[in-house]
Amino acid sequence: MTRDKVTVIDLLARKAQGPRIGAVTAYDATFARLLDAAGVDVLLVGDSLGMAIQGHKTTLPVTVDEICYHARAVARAMPRAHICGDLPFLSYQISVEGAVAAAGRLLKEGGCESVKLEGGAVWREHIRAMVASGIPVMGHLGLTPQSVHALGGFRVQGRGEQAESKLLEDASALSEAGVFALVLESIPCDLAKRVTGAVPVPTIGIGAGPHCDGQVLVCYDLLGLETELKPRFVRRFAELGQATVAAARAYVQDVRAGVFPAEEHCFSAASPGRRTLATLPDAAEVSDEGKRG
Ligand code: KIV
Repeated sequence: MTRDKVTVIDLLARKAQGPRIGAVTAYDATFARLLDAAGVDVLLVGDSLGMAIQGHKTTLPVTVDEICYHARAVARAMPRAHICGDLPFLSYQISVEGAVAAAGRLLKEGGCESVKLEGGAVWREHIRAMVASGIPVMGHLGLTPQSVHALGGFRVQGRGEQAESKLLEDASALSEAGVFALVLESIPCDLAKRVTGAVPVPTIGIGAGPHCDGQVLVCYDLLGLETELKPRFVRRFAELGQATVAAARAYVQDVRAGVFPAEEHCFSAASPGRRTLATLPDAAEVSDEGKRG
């Protein structure tokens, strides 16, 4: 482990010491490297990849194999950030043994350093068994997208006295079972504040207001790559969707006009031989065979 790798111990300490935790989803090595360079604390290989990457309407079709595939790509970037992998729908709900086995695969095959599951007190035993096996677990309460059909859609949760009490009880049950952090999704700000004050582990909000111990966003939302949906809680910190369309449009125009490729992109017939790393002007330089240096 690199010396300054973000661990679950560091994340727990942030509850008391701050600063707030900045978490972002990541699904591949390139984004993992870029987000890590920005100082993101947690890279979440979320099952939101079912919607962001695979084009599904919900997260339900995502499998453990797919989370492992994307997590391996993220882990190959060797980020300083902590890597947490989502346990997908029906990978942990069926039995305690099944939950430990699925979570174990995310660590062994995916290179994750912790797992996340959705739901409250009902998964207490599952969490205890994972934690006893050495697997750090993050909880997720409020809008739990794997229950989208039971909830009647992607709706704000925790409204009304009963729902508030249930969420507070679930939060205590999860922290007693041993979660190291708790995602709070799409709940009223005041409730998120109460939960944050009530549990000893950091809360990480998404659509839960400013009082949480950290925030998480889907990277495609944060970067403006998702252009069709814009939930109220999202701020686009860039407009890469528009930038991508503009760049691809310029490329197609240049290809059609015959101005790309230009002379500097072409290889000559004479072979200068392969240059050594030391003589390469920059990392994007290519060898004479046309491969990246
Ligand atoms: O799957 C996901 O990306 C998530 C976050 C939005 C919390 O669960």
